[in-house]
Amino acid sequence: MGVISRLFRSQSSNAAEILFERNARQRSLQEPRVAPVLPASEVFTPSQPKSGRRQVVGRDAECARILQALQEDRANVVLYSERGRGKTSLSNMVVEALRRSNVIVARHTCEAGSNFTSILRGLMQDLPVSLLAAPRRFDQCEGCEAALPDRELRPNDTLTLPDALACRSLVCVIDEFDRVEDRNTRTRLADAIKQLSDRDVDFRFFIVGVSEDLDQILGQHPSIQRSVLGVHLPLFTDRDVAKLISKGGRESGFEFPSSVIARVAALARGMPYIAQLLGLRLVQAARARGGTVVSEEDFHAAVNRLLSDANPRVVDMYSALTQRGTDLEMMLSLRRIATAPQDAWGRLHVAVSLDGGAVVGGRQIPPASWSELLAVSVLQATDRDAGLFVFAQRALMHHVLLMAAQEAAHHVTDNGQISPVANVARRLPMVAPRT
Ligand SMILES: Nc1ncnc2c1ncn2[C@@H]1O[C@H](COP(=O)(O)OP(=O)(O)OP(=O)(O)O)[C@@H](O)[C@H]1O
Ligand SMILES: [Mg+2]
Repeated sequence: MGVISRLFRSQSSNAAEILFERNARQRSLQEPRVAPVLPASEVFTPSQPKSGRRQVVGRDAECARILQALQEDRANVVLYSERGRGKTSLSNMVVEALRRSNVIVARHTCEAGSNFTSILRGLMQDLPVSLLAAPRRFDQCEGCEAALPDRELRPNDTLTLPDALACRSLVCVIDEFDRVEDRNTRTRLADAIKQLSDRDVDFRFFIVGVSEDLDQILGQHPSIQRSVLGVHLPLFTDRDVAKLISKGGRESGFEFPSSVIARVAALARGMPYIAQLLGLRLVQAARARGGTVVSEEDFHAAVNRLLSDANPRVVDMYSALTQRGTDLEMMLSLRRIATAPQDAWGRLHVAVSLDGGAVVGGRQIPPASWSELLAVSVLQATDRDAGLFVFAQRALMHHVLLMAAQEAAHHVTDNGQISPVANVARRLPMVAPRT
């Protein structure tokens, strides 16, 4: 082949490649991008917190409020709620945002045996040794542990930490703080917060724990009220639950019809953990059937699965309350309460009636049922004067809803009659939507 024709060939193949690439680029701009399908267990994660902005649904307002408190208001934050409402997932979002703005973050998760010294050491161990301002004193120290004295720690040991570390601002995240049994730890941490706030040291605590009440987490310390922001994490709205399910469907390659999403929202009642668990079981049921569109049949399979996996303690509690499913009045009372309108924190508005019964969200509860539910602490007053009550065990509320959903699917009794409970349950709205 002559030089000219070789040159021509290579030029024309270059031109063809350029044309092909340009066309491909145009095509990729025009065609919708197909995201890779992820395994359902990576998308719906009932047993794991979410680990960053892209994985979570909602929580923007709470995240912004916590960031503002930590960064602008120079306040410490206590994030609290019942179990499984999304505290660790939200704290992961906050940590991600803090790190993006170059704030140094140390994290520690407490255990029952943790105390003030072990928590501070755990936090410093979480930081890279390169942050130490001075060379390490002991080789056996982990991370930045050498920034702390080698003895039992006191609240004022926190004051020198920012100097011992080469960082402008430090946020220490302490998760599962409710698990700490040592009472002194609460007082010491409160003292440390007080001393840090008085000296205006750029060092904050972000404490996370299970509680319905701020005082239960840190104890009552009037001296630190001004320097601590308490954030009581609300439940998801039904719209958040719907987003969680549709997002998970898109990511795992399954379609959730709106009727199924509405049922999931009714059962989850704002609880992200239940939404994740139902999402996973629904996708598994559809996959077992060989379908990619989740059906009513899958919904019933998922409900049955959740009921068969239910915590035996909750099953026993339900069985004892309803006399093994024979106390119709109690079953209906539980269903009325479990489907009554709730506020953002799961609180129910209760008006006690003259006969000793109650009206919960407009639904009548007979005196015998109401007094028993209080006596065995199924319902607890969070503010008796305002008539606000919560389910002490929200798992029991979910069990009641799951039983109602199962009953609605099999509402015909052996003799062909509609069972009385199902009959009433079908007339009750499954949920009062919260948007
Ligand atoms: N914003 C969110 N978006 C999507 N899923 C979430 C969100 N928040 C929580 N979840 C899911 O809810 C469940 C509980 O979340 P998480 O572990 O964060 O709650 P928690 O309040 O820290 O629980 P615990 O009290 O047991 O520590 C997990 O399955 C998690 O994936
Ligand atoms: Mg948690």
